[in-house]
Amino acid sequence: MISLAGKRILVLGVASAESIAWATAQGLAHCGAEVHISYQQRFRSRVMQLLHEVPGLIAGAHRCDVTNDAEIQQMFQAIGGPLHSLIHGVGYAPPETFGKPIYEVTPEEFSQAALISAHSLLRVTRFALPFLVAGSSITTLTYLGGQRVVPGYRMMGIAKAALEATVRELAVDVGHHGVRVNAVSAGPVATLSAMALPSFSTMLEQYPRISPLHAPITTHDVAKMCAFLCSDLSDKVTGQVLFVDAGYSALGAYPPA
Ligand SMILES: NC(=O)c1ccc[n+]([C@@H]2O[C@H](COP(=O)([O-])OP(=O)(O)OC[C@H]3O[C@@H](n4cnc5c(N)ncnc54)[C@H](O)[C@@H]3O)[C@@H](O)[C@H]2O)c1
Repeated sequence: MISLAGKRILVLGVASAESIAWATAQGLAHCGAEVHISYQQRFRSRVMQLLHEVPGLIAGAHRCDVTNDAEIQQMFQAIGGPLHSLIHGVGYAPPETFGKPIYEVTPEEFSQAALISAHSLLRVTRFALPFLVAGSSITTLTYLGGQRVVPGYRMMGIAKAALEATVRELAVDVGHHGVRVNAVSAGPVATLSAMALPSFSTMLEQYPRISPLHAPITTHDVAKMCAFLCSDLSDKVTGQVLFVDAGYSALGAYPPA
């Protein structure tokens, strides 16, 4: 197991027991880090229940909507410094965008998806920077739909493409602070957000059947890559998209069903 003893880490985006952010927060805490989490107000009671089930594991839980500067600022003030890593496990597109042709997406729907799923990485970083020490890392979560067309992903694919470009631009602009920025591109995992995708059950079925490793992806698999990116083992890795998908993204053609 990687040791993260002495590191203070913030994991954004816990909504339920199935959240990638929740598995990551627990995994990082088991590696010895002091872990803080954030949640949206609408998930507060679920998150409090989760904390109740693992007493003492998580150092603090903070309400934070990433579209609200005051909440972001309050969260960082409550946590204080130094901060060694930030995990951005936040994403959203209006559900109606999954079910209509991409040219029907309204300016408001487009803006909301891009604002929450991509721009929020910049917004949170701006508030985090005074607390992040040299050698720290920022990690976000993306999906293959940001690089290729995955049926039904639509607006979220555009938002993930923007997020991955944001990772590269941000890596350049914070590199001189000694801060690294990367994205983990996870294969499909059954979470609240993922279940909103009409095509999700097909994606979930395809990966173990087609991928080189013939294995499903778990939140634990994603958490392990996040632990690596939080650790000094990855101290020269920045501006990258790292796939945790059992090799699915390496394929150029698929065997017949
Ligand atoms: N589940 C998958 O198959 C999968 C695959 C690849 C990437 N991802 C990405 O992983 C990330 C986490 O998603 P998940 O699958 O764990 O689902 P999830 O539903 O558990 O997490 C999504 C989180 O985004 C948060 N969020 C949405 N709008 C917000 C806002 N305005 N302010 C603050 N938080 C907000 C929600 O509160 C929730 O905690 C997302 O970016 C998602 O796109 C998921």
